[in-house]
Amino acid sequence: MAQESLPGTTDRRLAGLLTLLAENATIIISGARIAKEIGVSRSTVWRWVERLRGLGVKVKGQTASGYFLMLKQRLKGSLFGKRIFHFFKTDSTNRIALELGHAGEAEGAVVLAEEQTAGRGRAGRSWHSERAAGIYATLLLRPKLAPVQAPLLTMMAGLSAHSAVQAVTGLKVDLKWPNDLLIRGKKVGGILTEMHAEPNQVRFVIVGIGLNVNQEKFPGELASVATSLHAETGKPQARMELLVRLLREFESDYNRFLREGAASVVERFESVSSYARGKRVRVTNGTESYAGTTAGLGPEGLLQVEREDGRVTAVISGDVTEAR
Ligand code: BTN
Repeated sequence: MAQESLPGTTDRRLAGLLTLLAENATIIISGARIAKEIGVSRSTVWRWVERLRGLGVKVKGQTASGYFLMLKQRLKGSLFGKRIFHFFKTDSTNRIALELGHAGEAEGAVVLAEEQTAGRGRAGRSWHSERAAGIYATLLLRPKLAPVQAPLLTMMAGLSAHSAVQAVTGLKVDLKWPNDLLIRGKKVGGILTEMHAEPNQVRFVIVGIGLNVNQEKFPGELASVATSLHAETGKPQARMELLVRLLREFESDYNRFLREGAASVVERFESVSSYARGKRVRVTNGTESYAGTTAGLGPEGLLQVEREDGRVTAVISGDVTEAR
């Protein structure tokens, strides 16, 4: 009797199929690729997908277009499991989330893309968004905060991403104020928060998170400054696992921030970021560029830098780079 027909056992190749589907759950994966990777015919893949459906596993698509499981299932009961807008290709998930925010979409909506053609980075830069290689996600929030507190959400998101990446991959990740995730000094992720606010009250905030997961190389000058989790671990990483963990960490950090205020974020950031204290840095903003040593974060999360002449400046905007 073939193993796959034994009651109650999971055939090794069927388990392979489940793993592939789980690991590629936010992308389309073709029936042909599944068949090739687990070494069965396409018609067997189709039969098994039907069997999985019979067992209650939600698999979308047909052999022609591929399959993907819904992230929603994994996020049942969570703030981010209610409304998920998934795009195979879009210009920017931040742009879509802003539109949703203006249209009155509720807190917790998630916009996800496999590929962005105009991914936005900080300071008007673009965000390289290779198809199905990274996580490109934007979350819509409606916190009762004053606009000055909103930047803390960027730092908080960095902390959530930091925890998720470390937990899933075992890699040691650093945070560069205010929003860069670094591994061995190279950028592996970034956060871009945009908001719509009245003078004293935030209407909504969108938190865009970009994570380099399975990129094997980066174009042009990015090659020397960017890295991916695949490059750092030497093996492909499951975007689904990372995203689920990230959204769960985010939800618990967000609730804690709303409950406990800025201190919870500031203290945690100081404890995990090598940039928070005692780092020689150069700060460059629209008007000046100066060197100094970091001296912790202020109560609203602003980075304090002691300049060479002894003056301490709070960095409000600008780029902070390590000065050697
Ligand atoms: C940075 O410059 O470090 C911030 C990068 C933020 C990129 C993400 S990818 C998902 C979301 N959509 C965008 O257009 N940008 C953010």
